[in-house]
Amino acid sequence: MKSHSRYVCQNCGATSTRWVGKCSVCGAWETYVEEITGGGTAKSKGKSNSSNAVTKLADIAGSGNVRIMTGISELDRVLGGGITPGSLILVGGDPGIGKSTLMLQLCAGLQKHNPLYITGEESLFQIKQRAARLASIPNDLLLLAETNISTMLQAIKDTQATVAIIDSIQTTYHEDINSTPGTVTQVRECTALLMQTAKKSGTAIFLVGHVTKDGMIAGPKVLEHMVDTVLQFEGEKTYAYRLLRAIKNRYGSTNEIGIFEMVEGGLQEVHNPSEIFLAQRHRHDSGTAIVATVEGTRPMLIEVQALVSPTGFSVAQRTSTGFDTRRLQMILAVLEKRLGLEFRKCDVFVNVAGGVSLDDPAVDLGIAAALVSSWKDIPLHPETVLIGEIGLSGEIRPVSHFEQRCSEAEKLGFTTVIAPAANTAKLNKGLAIACRSVERVSLALTTLFT
Ligand code: TYD
Ligand code: MG
Repeated sequence: MKSHSRYVCQNCGATSTRWVGKCSVCGAWETYVEEITGGGTAKSKGKSNSSNAVTKLADIAGSGNVRIMTGISELDRVLGGGITPGSLILVGGDPGIGKSTLMLQLCAGLQKHNPLYITGEESLFQIKQRAARLASIPNDLLLLAETNISTMLQAIKDTQATVAIIDSIQTTYHEDINSTPGTVTQVRECTALLMQTAKKSGTAIFLVGHVTKDGMIAGPKVLEHMVDTVLQFEGEKTYAYRLLRAIKNRYGSTNEIGIFEMVEGGLQEVHNPSEIFLAQRHRHDSGTAIVATVEGTRPMLIEVQALVSPTGFSVAQRTSTGFDTRRLQMILAVLEKRLGLEFRKCDVFVNVAGGVSLDDPAVDLGIAAALVSSWKDIPLHPETVLIGEIGLSGEIRPVSHFEQRCSEAEKLGFTTVIAPAANTAKLNKGLAIACRSVERVSLALTTLFT
């Protein structure tokens, strides 16, 4: 077959015969890359498996929910209760966030499952150096430095590994495809082969993938559709905390998150995140408030800080880290209208402690309280937690997981929660922590600061 070139969108996999600046399918800019096709195509294409036959549900061998536990409970939870044999799991994240470290630590807990770690990014010597830092990595761990997919698949077969790790999909290539490694065609073809192997052999395969600037798993959205589970490793580089989030999971909930801390000896599990996020708090400063947020199904208490100061510009600045600026503007508008505070003459800065990003509306009331506290220069009571979403007319709306949020506050020694009246009215039994019900933001904040 004659080879010819075509342009492929590296985001969604759409093709074009000429270069285009904006993808007409997914709308991404400058994602088209020239790829050579033909002159040999991947053998995986169109290959049918003749052993497949129509089967009754009851005749399928194997029973129960067999899972492989990794020994890292934060990871097991995100996976939906351990690794499902024969699944293909994509682990995405920015370079340097700790993907390779997590994968190597995963091998430590899986020793009796004969894990195989395949690296295309680092040399075996570099892996050895990393393993020495991590301490718990056993000496008989199987390693392979390889980028050719056929050799990888052969190695998985030969070693009969129950779990294989491929670090990374962007460096893996299929020799029959002319495009460079990391392009959509290569990534898609290699992933399809890995999927076949995983399903046929029952080996669970972890694929490491890098993430582009705008937060997409690099190369392809198509990759996310092909795999069983997509785990995203996130965190600010300047902070040691890392969140592992399931974006897609065929074998579990996508609500769970795992929290880790990067320390000298690798990634450490964080079982009580609130304590860490509150460790540095400034109890008696104005402009700070404690909010109760829920990540997945886990409640977490976090400190939010606000600074309100007279502006030197004609248009006041609104800067926020870890909280949506548009939501902040909405809260400021509500406070201006309902409490008569003239925020338009002030620069406003909001910061969420610990590099966490809050997109839970239940933190609105806490943000509003921090803003008013900074405006009035009066600190909030340090043992108070604020819960509630603010509506456009200044009403405090109910939140989800209310009781979990309250019990987390109680567990950490807080004495009072300021809570939406609609939530407290629905409680069947009394709470162990004192609860002040509020209905309107104006009244809630006036009583807090008088
Ligand atoms: P790495 O796992 O190489 O990231 P990725 O594979 O996602 O690119 O992580 C590298 C970072 O982790 C690097 O900044 C150093 C840091 N690190 C530690 O702080 N402690 C450790 O024990 C290890 C192994 C890495
Ligand atoms: Mg790496």
